[in-house]
Amino acid sequence: MHTRVRSAILISGRGSNMQALLDAARDKADFPASFDLVISDRADAAGLDIARKAGCDALALQQTGAGKAAWEAELTTLLRRADIELVCLAGFMRLLSGGFLAGLGRPVLNIHPSLLPDFPGLNAQAQALKAGVRVAGCTAHEVTEVMDAGPIIGQAQVPVQTYDSVEALSARILREEHRLYPACVARFLGARLQPSPTPEPETPVHAH
Ligand code: GAR
Repeated sequence: MHTRVRSAILISGRGSNMQALLDAARDKADFPASFDLVISDRADAAGLDIARKAGCDALALQQTGAGKAAWEAELTTLLRRADIELVCLAGFMRLLSGGFLAGLGRPVLNIHPSLLPDFPGLNAQAQALKAGVRVAGCTAHEVTEVMDAGPIIGQAQVPVQTYDSVEALSARILREEHRLYPACVARFLGARLQPSPTPEPETPVHAH
């Protein structure tokens, strides 16, 4: 079996997408990533306990009075020390700076509960209901310094029902997030681990 890509998951809360990633890495022999470290920016994130119970190293790293740059520097140190090659955000509610992303030099992925580029930012499901769309969904994408705007890896759609509530729509989308995110992590790594195809010899173009 090929070596799995050492990966970290960043969370802020419940951690159900983190759980879906941990499950995929445990259950699928050919899953290309291992999740070796979970970091939360909140000490009270329920996901921390779930990660520990699953046998993962899990810790809280909260921003202190020293500010965001110091917090990001510490995060970089922790990720480097653990030899992390891929970072997956899973319900992580902070914007990472361009300086952090460039300094880390490792891809960072995210799952967002809308069909981006529609409804970036907070409360995406409520934004979708307010806009009156009939189709909602979720997006797995690469993270750049612009919020929810990096290259899209994959999307899944769900219908919006008449008189949907934010809770019902969010639950319908979340079920798809749990399926989509692990599949997109695998797709992303698969594409990167493939040797680039040998270019076809150029064939002359004939005009007819
Ligand atoms: C998920 O719906 C995730 O897509 C969303 O927060 C929820 C976290 O749930 N993330 C964002 O809105 C990021 N902009 P979880 O903690 O159970 O995975």
